Amino acid sequence: MAVQRIGCSPAAFFVALSLVNSFVFSAVDRHGTWPAALPEGLLALDIVDKIHVDPDTTARFSTDYGGLSQADPAAVLYPSSPDDIATLVRFAYSSSPSSFSIAAHGHGHSIRGQALVPGGVVVDMASLGRGRSDRINVSSDWYVDAGGEQLWIDVLRETLKHGLSPRSWTDYLYLTVGGTLSNAGISGQAFRHGPQISNVYELDVITGKGDTITCSREENSDLFYGVLGGLGQFGIITRARIALEPAPQRVRWLRLFYTDFSSFTGDQELLVSMTEKVFDYVEGQLLTEKDVGNSSFFSDTDTEKVKMLAAEYGRIYFVEGGVYYEPATASMVDQKLETLLKRLSFVPGFAFTKDVAYISFLNRVQEEETHSTAPENVLHPWLNMFVPKSRIRDFEMGVFKGILKNNNPIGLVLIYPFNKNKWDDKMSAAIPDEEVFYTIGLLPSATVDDWKYLDSQNDEILRFCQQEGIDFKQYLPHYTTQTDWKNHFGLKWDVFVRLKRRYDPQALLSPGQRIFTSSL
Ligand SMILES: Cc1cc2nc3c(=O)[nH]c(=O)nc-3n(C[C@H](O)[C@H](O)[C@H](O)COP(=O)(O)OP(=O)(O)OC[C@H]3O[C@@H](n4cnc5c(N)ncnc54)[C@H](O)[C@@H]3O)c2cc1C
Ligand SMILES: *[C@@H]1O[C@H](CO)[C@@H](O)[C@H](O)[C@H]1NC(C)=O
Ligand SMILES: *[C@@H]1O[C@H](CO)[C@@H](O)[C@H](O)[C@H]1NC(C)=O
Repeated sequence: MAVQRIGCSPAAFFVALSLVNSFVFSAVDRHGTWPAALPEGLLALDIVDKIHVDPDTTARFSTDYGGLSQADPAAVLYPSSPDDIATLVRFAYSSSPSSFSIAAHGHGHSIRGQALVPGGVVVDMASLGRGRSDRINVSSDWYVDAGGEQLWIDVLRETLKHGLSPRSWTDYLYLTVGGTLSNAGISGQAFRHGPQISNVYELDVITGKGDTITCSREENSDLFYGVLGGLGQFGIITRARIALEPAPQRVRWLRLFYTDFSSFTGDQELLVSMTEKVFDYVEGQLLTEKDVGNSSFFSDTDTEKVKMLAAEYGRIYFVEGGVYYEPATASMVDQKLETLLKRLSFVPGFAFTKDVAYISFLNRVQEEETHSTAPENVLHPWLNMFVPKSRIRDFEMGVFKGILKNNNPIGLVLIYPFNKNKWDDKMSAAIPDEEVFYTIGLLPSATVDDWKYLDSQNDEILRFCQQEGIDFKQYLPHYTTQTDWKNHFGLKWDVFVRLKRRYDPQALLSPGQRIFTSSL
């Protein structure tokens, strides 16, 4: 018999066999009952101990910040290294037709299930070593190599130790490098530096075939451009080389109020068009009286003042600005700022300033807001759009003064412009075809009772824009049909499909985006 032929006694064979069995059974025990959705071949991989299938674990990865979508994965991989992820993907790719989907889970701050993977395997990126110093390497050549799992707050803390900082941000820093680079990564610095995807030199990516590929503008450039803004469709980002600049020490933080939309946007457009560097950050918000809350930005008397203005006009707006500076040059900065403020049209007496450390400025949402924590019962039916400047008045009339006219409070509403020339058209991110376009973020908190109403308002807004022929794009969209995705990507769609065929032909990755539902 075979055992004897390889020179092993039957007794030894059975000992060996029972060892194999007890290993397999104990793995299954430890991991719960092995899910039917996953091939048992996974049990033979050396990453098996890092794959958890128990319901307590899978339940933790079955929803996201939005709270509007729910889908249980079959398992969760806790990788110790990028190679563990590559092993998983390679196995999935080779187990066709009985393969399974895989999604990187950054920090689960998607709104509509984009990081969920029904019946497949979630890769918990954090376990690569979130916040670990060997996953954030700062170079004196003004770049940082950061793991895709890293939170931007940790990248900031690490680079600041070297007096350096990334240039382009998100408002909220408890998001992952891989997660925001899969979208765009936008905030008030983007008018000058472009979105975060415009500030990347190089990426390590694990493709949907399990290959690990380093890419940049020079090397494997199709993958580089595809992955940036690519919604996780071509590979999992395990490292990003991000541009840095010397970090300023302090920030003059301004809020300038307007009662008139045209003056508000006119000033924003002036600020983002200036070649002279005064404002380093430009955003803006709309608010009603009921939205004027207890922000630590304002003193109690200023809060009352702003409330009265909002009560009188119903809707008011503020431009939020940031001016970076060093204490040594403070007086020069003040002079420049004073001269500039004279050119702006805010309501006299309604310019408020604060002076804060750079890190406090960048981390303002965490230090300030309550919406950044997601208690179970708060839902986030958010809508983010890019609207061309030429139609922003039509948007105001139809949406702020139309569809949303009775929303009071209206919740957080962000409105601010970008310069298209700071975006790279070769990247996957879809934007309107106009030199200046606005981002509009409607970011209310909702309850189980009112989220559907807000969501139907979102649909109404999208319908309105379509009917009016406004050439908008959604940011962080959640389309469900390929026709909608095709329209979303427009001229980029053919390239997007070609890259999918090349780098993830079995459509294994990030199925929660619902772009490709079957292999190509
Ligand atoms: C409170 C809050 C504030 C926000 N503020 C901003 C803002 O100011 N500006 C802005 O641009 N966005 C903002 N966002 C949106 C945010 O950029 C997205 O939610 C984004 O998906 C990042 O979240 P995440 O890191 O948790 O990624 P996840 O939600 O976990 O993942 C997002 C998608 O990317 C995929 N993915 C995750 N990691 C990787 C990786 N390493 N490689 C490849 N694909 C990956 C996932 O599978 C999923 O499809 C905000 C969101 C919240 C909840
Ligand atoms: C940081 O550098 C160390 C040592 O060279 C290396 O092992 C590690 O992979 C690097 N990390 C990243 C994210 O590049
Ligand atoms: C604002 O602060 C006041 C006094 O501290 C408090 O009574 C009130 O509830 C707060 N309002 C909000 C919206 O948090």
